[in-house]
Amino acid sequence: MQNLKLGVQIGNLYLKNPVMPASGAFGYEMESLFDFNDLGAIVPKSITKYPRGGNATPRVCEITGGMINSIGIQSKGLAYYLEELIPNYQKYDTPLIASISADSVDEFAEMAEIIGRESTVSGIELNISCPNLEGDGNAFGMDAELSYQVVKKAREATDQPLIAKLTPNVTSIQEIALACESAGVDGLNVANTILAMAIDIHTRKPKIGNVLGGMSGPAIKPIIVRMIHQVRGVTNLPIIGCGGVMTWEDAIEMILAGASAVQVGTSSFINPMAMMEILEGIKEYMIAYEIEDIRDLIGKVELPIQENEGVRIAY
Ligand SMILES: Cc1cc2nc3c(=O)[nH]c(=O)nc-3n(C[C@H](O)[C@H](O)[C@H](O)COP(=O)(O)O)c2cc1C
Repeated sequence: MQNLKLGVQIGNLYLKNPVMPASGAFGYEMESLFDFNDLGAIVPKSITKYPRGGNATPRVCEITGGMINSIGIQSKGLAYYLEELIPNYQKYDTPLIASISADSVDEFAEMAEIIGRESTVSGIELNISCPNLEGDGNAFGMDAELSYQVVKKAREATDQPLIAKLTPNVTSIQEIALACESAGVDGLNVANTILAMAIDIHTRKPKIGNVLGGMSGPAIKPIIVRMIHQVRGVTNLPIIGCGGVMTWEDAIEMILAGASAVQVGTSSFINPMAMMEILEGIKEYMIAYEIEDIRDLIGKVELPIQENEGVRIAY
């Protein structure tokens, strides 16, 4: 099969293929390893308005099936991002999705407006998994009303395609997805890390300086697949699956659950070529199953019974 169609849409944002880095797991240094033109999108680490030092160390620890991190959005600030970082990506024919983290609803809107003016930026990912410092410190994305407000104000501030990166640390991810949809988001990232803790039994101290951190890697994939499926059940918005994509098989699984694209985080720390290998594997799968267009796979999980509305709990 010669003409494999790998392109997918997130609102007005066209991705030539469905594989991109997860924010925080991508760096310009990777340039020497593969051609960034081969990615579906470039997603650098979340940027904050002002420079930030990050959380107490240790900031990462390995666990069975993945890792826990609590970097705390270490950031050189918006001015550095605009002057030094964004211009670097200009030479690539790959859309740049800027991930933004903010401390308040208004700061999200302000940053979306400023970054939205950059001609090199093709989309904005709102990292609503970060704590709301003006409120109770919980993530914006844990609260449907706050999620709505962040998206709504960012929507008013820019015409750029907007993606809301949801937190999985909620009871009903569908509720948050719907709030973001009604506020005018173009796509949903499902999802960020899962709140976790690990203790060193010899020192009796938490393995993360900040005590709690976010768990990523293969162990969280089934949870993320479940959430993609649940979100797909309530909205037709394009979904980017993120959490535990280590191989091309994981990417296909998320696409079948309802994702239009996937992001790769932890896997790239282990194997910096992971994204390229995942892309090759997707192509081989499509050839093997004679699927010309990747879009024919999105949400094509074959369920044993017709689902009723809402959550089906089948143990
Ligand atoms: C070291 C590290 C740093 C991260 N930094 C960010 C970040 O700045 N912004 C963000 O939205 N997510 C961040 N994440 C979360 C990832 O983008 C991703 O959502 C998560 O790791 C799940 O995907 P994975 O299992 O493929 O790693 C970070 C994850 C790790 C491991």
